[in-house]
Amino acid sequence: MNFANQTIWTGDCLDIMRGMNSDCVDLICLDPPFNSNANYAAPIGSQAAGAEFKDTWSLSDLDNEWLNLIASKHPALYRVLLAAMTDSDKSYLVYMAVRLLEMHRILKPTGTLFLHCDPTMSHYLKLVMDAIFGRKNFRNEIIWHYSGWNKRLKSHIERRHDIILLYAMSADSVFHPPVRHWESKAEYIRVRKQKVRTDDEGREYVLSDAGGGNRVRRYLDDVWEIPKLNNSDKERTGYPTQKPLALYRRLVETSSKEGDLVLDPFCGCATTCIAAQDLGRQWAGIDVAGKAIELTKMRLRNELGLFASPIHRSDIPLRTDLGKLPRPSSHKKTLYGEQAGNCEGCGEHFQIQNLEVDHIIPRSKGGTDHIENLQFLCGSCNRIKGNRGMEYLQSKLQLS
Ligand SMILES: C[S@@+](CC[C@H](N)C(=O)[O-])C[C@H]1O[C@@H](n2cnc3c(N)ncnc32)[C@H](O)[C@@H]1O
Ligand SMILES: [Zn+2]
Repeated sequence: MNFANQTIWTGDCLDIMRGMNSDCVDLICLDPPFNSNANYAAPIGSQAAGAEFKDTWSLSDLDNEWLNLIASKHPALYRVLLAAMTDSDKSYLVYMAVRLLEMHRILKPTGTLFLHCDPTMSHYLKLVMDAIFGRKNFRNEIIWHYSGWNKRLKSHIERRHDIILLYAMSADSVFHPPVRHWESKAEYIRVRKQKVRTDDEGREYVLSDAGGGNRVRRYLDDVWEIPKLNNSDKERTGYPTQKPLALYRRLVETSSKEGDLVLDPFCGCATTCIAAQDLGRQWAGIDVAGKAIELTKMRLRNELGLFASPIHRSDIPLRTDLGKLPRPSSHKKTLYGEQAGNCEGCGEHFQIQNLEVDHIIPRSKGGTDHIENLQFLCGSCNRIKGNRGMEYLQSKLQLS
């Protein structure tokens, strides 16, 4: 792991994750924007005032170029993205796909990912996840159901659940089946429909427990009934999309062990991080909104009595898992051969001395000096691209 436990980044999770070593995270919980056509803003005066993020999407030239890049490297994923019904859906899915690819890279082979979404896009996201994680690694579609007052609606039934997709990296991924405790002996007797007996030492048992004295564990199914935060909840920070701690505690408990590293790349007011801290896990969070770090500090203090501040960063970590890499310029001959002397942007042929080594993903966005991230561009294409990704250069070349 090339960053410290208890770090919160302010920035786009795509850039930050690109700087993280491969195979270093045990569990990722993400609750990204849902493509719900809403612009969330925190109520004025709440602890979270000033936190705001966009959840509206339209297909840009950049998205189209991302699509082209995905088409060449991940054909199965590309086919899934083409299934989107509208440009807005496609734009959203491209945005999610490039980030989920990065999450798949940084997860350990024993890792797990929970993707929190809702019925707006869950059916598409499941296809995206199948393409990236493999269909055999799908484990559950958890329904988080919350109650509330149901109005009479004109065209549909009240929607009262979110969906959490659980994907494992492999058959070796950590899994502790979630259990719920019995509320009382009376509830136990009612549900189990068995007489509670007492053995010679005074321990209670039912016949099917073979006299072990323990009440049988009560394993949960995939529909979880957990109340949504209401306005007067003590837990509430006012962050527009804050989720209940009880829900995220259950995710962290189910798929990680003490000491494991848990990452939330869209951490908001850091519910995942608070749950992880409380359960003795290591953690890190990322959010584009600057408000996240302030709220995390406040919550660690209020809810866990923890005064140690998390580390706050906005720079991209430097990967340390690629070994000591040779200077980019030492790859000139190889790149010239691989590209048959053509500029990777405009496609024109050049002499080797007229081509320049370029970082496909710029170093300022987490790109490395590894040859896989290097290419030859002519001077003109290199100047257009500057410090941006290939999708930018391609969209500019198409427009000119
Ligand atoms: C649904 S909220 C997460 C709420 C969180 N689970 C909580 O309990 O507070 C989604 C978050 O993603 C953040 N976000 C949106 N785009 C992002 C990006 N590209 N990188 C990192 N964070 C992003 C938003 O600022 C917002 O806080
Ligand atoms: Zn060129």
